[in-house]
Amino acid sequence: MELFKTEFAGKVAVITGAASGMGLLATRELAACGAKVVMCDVNEGALAREAAAIAEAQEVRESAGAAAPCPCDVRHWEDAQKAAAIALERFGRLDFLFSFAGGNEARVCNSHVPFHEQPREVIDWGLDVNLRGPIYMARACLPAMVAQKGGVVCLLGSVTGFEGDGSGAMYGTAKSGLFNFTKALAKDGAPHGIRAFCVSPGPVLTRPGMAGMKTLLGRAADPSEVVDFILYLASSKGAFVTGSNHLIDGGRLCLSC
Ligand SMILES: NC(=O)c1ccc[n+]([C@@H]2O[C@H](COP(=O)([O-])OP(=O)(O)OC[C@H]3O[C@@H](n4cnc5c(N)ncnc54)[C@H](O)[C@@H]3O)[C@@H](O)[C@H]2O)c1
Repeated sequence: MELFKTEFAGKVAVITGAASGMGLLATRELAACGAKVVMCDVNEGALAREAAAIAEAQEVRESAGAAAPCPCDVRHWEDAQKAAAIALERFGRLDFLFSFAGGNEARVCNSHVPFHEQPREVIDWGLDVNLRGPIYMARACLPAMVAQKGGVVCLLGSVTGFEGDGSGAMYGTAKSGLFNFTKALAKDGAPHGIRAFCVSPGPVLTRPGMAGMKTLLGRAADPSEVVDFILYLASSKGAFVTGSNHLIDGGRLCLSC
């Protein structure tokens, strides 16, 4: 945490999925380190509530951190552009994009049927939120990073991107698409001092249901284990990391080898 405090003070981050789970935790940690965060989420009520709580937190006030709520649906090009514009207009720069917004369409749309029975709108949700959204967000944020000659993009994959899922088929498909998009971003960004990496968790306890998923370690991750790993990679300690996908899955993938 001490490393992060000196690293992130005064930096500006756009974070999607910032109203809950790991996106919210990353927002809290960065704001407590003195970073300015544009909190993007489609859940406006939770966004307003969490942004207000962060602004009032003593450690955030002491560090001069900030959290600006930005109602945003990552599926919409204009919303992605708006998020980047808020970072520049309100905070004057854009150093980090953390793309946490995502989810398994079978779970989120409560449609637990095999892929061959999934309605079109469920398929569209899975692809659009998990793949099109991170692409739109990166496209919106990169010009500011290019102009600044530096920046970091973090995409959220999943162990499901390796395993596949017969019901939430688009979730795994989109996450594996992000593995390739990470390489594209790394190639596009390297001449401009921009790094891109993907972090692919196994089960994380952002909801109780994840506790039942098998891992070699016999447990799911605490959200802080994944967020701390991401912040380490985003910091100068991770300066040689780009174009790569990093599993943090408690050995879950080993179980299928
Ligand atoms: N929790 C896990 O076990 C786990 C495992 C592997 C990968 N992941 C990935 O990590 C990321 C974060 O997971 P989490 O469990 O912390 O998430 P979460 O479910 O707690 O939060 C996701 C957030 O994304 C927001 N969101 C949904 N659709 C959106 C849209 N169209 N535009 C903007 N925001 C939208 C939701 O409102 C919510 O606040 C996701 O991409 C997920 O796929 C999670």
